[in-house]
Amino acid sequence: MGMFNYDEAFSRNIGWVSEAEQGLLRQKRVAIAGLGGVGGSHVLTLARLGIGAFHLADFDRFDLVNVNRQAGAMGSTLGRPKVEVLQQMALDINPELDLQLFPDGVQASNLEAFLHGVDLYVDSLDFFAFEARRQLFAACARLGIPAITAAPLGMGTAFLTFLPGGMSFEQYFQLDGQDEFEQGLRFLLGLAPARLQMRYLVDPSRVDLAAHKGPSTVIACQLCAGVAAAQALKILLGRGDVVAAPHGLHFDAYTNTLARTWLPGGNRNPVQQVKLALARRLLRGRQAIPASTASAESASPAMQVLDLARWAPSGDNAQSWRFAVHSAQRFTLYGYDTRQQVVYDFDGRPSRIALGGLIENIHLAAGRIGYQAEVSRRPAGQDAPCQVLEVNLVEAAHCLPDPLAEQIVTRSVQRRPLSTRRLSAAEKTALQAAVGPDFRVIWLEGARLRWAMARLLSANAKIRLTMPEAYPVHRDMVAWQARFSTDRLPDQAIGMDPLGLRLMRWVLQSWPRVQFFNRYLAGTWLPRLQLDLLPGWACGAHFLLVADHGPASVDDELAAGRALQRFWLTATQLGLQLQPQMTPLVFSWYVAANRRFSQQQEVWQAAQQLQQRLQALVGERTLQTAVAMGRIGAGKPAQARSLRRPLQALLVSAREAPALSGMAAGAATLVASPTVIAEGPRPDQPQATAA
Ligand SMILES: Cc1cc2nc3c(=O)[nH]c(=O)nc-3n(C[C@H](O)[C@H](O)[C@H](O)COP(=O)(O)O)c2cc1C
Repeated sequence: MGMFNYDEAFSRNIGWVSEAEQGLLRQKRVAIAGLGGVGGSHVLTLARLGIGAFHLADFDRFDLVNVNRQAGAMGSTLGRPKVEVLQQMALDINPELDLQLFPDGVQASNLEAFLHGVDLYVDSLDFFAFEARRQLFAACARLGIPAITAAPLGMGTAFLTFLPGGMSFEQYFQLDGQDEFEQGLRFLLGLAPARLQMRYLVDPSRVDLAAHKGPSTVIACQLCAGVAAAQALKILLGRGDVVAAPHGLHFDAYTNTLARTWLPGGNRNPVQQVKLALARRLLRGRQAIPASTASAESASPAMQVLDLARWAPSGDNAQSWRFAVHSAQRFTLYGYDTRQQVVYDFDGRPSRIALGGLIENIHLAAGRIGYQAEVSRRPAGQDAPCQVLEVNLVEAAHCLPDPLAEQIVTRSVQRRPLSTRRLSAAEKTALQAAVGPDFRVIWLEGARLRWAMARLLSANAKIRLTMPEAYPVHRDMVAWQARFSTDRLPDQAIGMDPLGLRLMRWVLQSWPRVQFFNRYLAGTWLPRLQLDLLPGWACGAHFLLVADHGPASVDDELAAGRALQRFWLTATQLGLQLQPQMTPLVFSWYVAANRRFSQQQEVWQAAQQLQQRLQALVGERTLQTAVAMGRIGAGKPAQARSLRRPLQALLVSAREAPALSGMAAGAATLVASPTVIAEGPRPDQPQATAA
């Protein structure tokens, strides 16, 4: 090809890269290990970008089963070595390429040579080549070579970069010392914490970690090549925003979703540990491990369902529910209310709304493992301090699991400011669909209404902070200096800056201190600004969840809780953040029932005014039938969050449970034994349940 001219061949890149930059790309050397699904596309894409030199490694030959996705697999190349075919194709694009071939693949013996003089490593090894991959990434870290991996998942790509000096591959994935199954699991879940592809896997039996088999599409491979090349360009030219671990990107073309993933601590992250534990059980269960190696209970459907369902949200993370497991498929659920201890628990209604969320989770968690939950409630009125529900799991293998189940652990409250971008019509439609026909979502959006709500929330906070009845609640609900807490709110999840938190902690130590502060130092001003006014304005919208008919019975309240949970899980699925803000509603319920919840006259008057203001904003009928409200919007997930008590701590024997249910004060014993997890990840949290 005597006519080849580099400048002309790559001239159409100019514009997106400058001529000088194209010259730089020509000088660069990129190593690519694995020339299968993604590797071949990487070579061709980067060659067309004008990269001047490649090190290519693969020991395999093309086979008929590669044809669906691998760039080099064609009728004419079947049976031929992959390196040879890709060499030929790359030279066909740019005959001046400097190519070094490693036809035996990469091993310890040629690792140094493979990475010698290389500016960038692009990983495209077979998914299951864990050992080679670990060695390569470790060598890159040692030699200061940036390394990229773009994984083809379903019809999308999950992408991670490891930059010299940044978080390393091993720090992120934690593969060291794990068996092969576990390495596969950690690699998969670490690559794609958002697991977007799991929503449309039509035949789960085709994913078999143990047999090293999984389905793969050309759609994903092509996306990988494009995304990786864009990142490669930025790294090699030293410009643009390079997303590096623990941050990652997952774009899924099937669900039209882009997830910006962020996994501080990598696979050691406590929430990720929970997801790993769940996936471990699901997959091991499917592989039918002999009974001798799997403990009987860890395989029991009831325990599996409860272990996932217990991640339901509850006011102040109270988790005032207990479980008595009778058999592998049958358990009783005791849902207590906290109205005796918590002034916000109006008639126990917020507790029953939370219980509804738990019930929704039970349905979702059952579906996830091929069961259907039959739930029946023992008759008891709203004044009963405990609701008792019998749950029976029946096999329903033919039912497809609801993808919302995948969001149960990820869902978390975000109390910090969010983007003020309005929700799109598609987002609102999905959220309205999530709550079902018996509920309506009312949106309060636009700068004017958000500001009105922010001011209302600030007035609401003044009530909360000055009423003596709420003081013990505020004092006891916070786990101080904590990023995670299994039974309270970690202070770092409240939404206040560190200095404000220290002040708040000091003030909350005694009621006279609070009073003094409020009276003489305008004490409510700082928390109201940080926790109510700013976030109240900084969101996409405020919402009210409104029932078709008022929350008149226990069943209405449980249904409201189920709707709220579906709403919240759907928001999580859409990448939206949410914070319930129930107290304005709670005060309105007290006012509507004409029940003075505070001995303080000013507080009662302020609550009446608040109810009037809310009514003026949303209308009388809406306020009467509203079951939940809060703020929602685009934004990053919370960095600090509540975890849950271990399942063991929530289990009771059928004999002790009735004693608890007989008295509202029983709830007090539920608050025992607080466990706080201080700053930093804690690996073992969720597994404590398998015993
Ligand atoms: C019925 C109910 C009411 C809630 N009310 C509020 C609220 O008024 N303000 C708030 O910031 N969070 C509220 N939350 C959120 C909980 O505090 C939060 O879900 C819980 O602490 C668990 O944390 P997680 O959602 O991050 O797992 C409420 C949750 C429920 C279920």
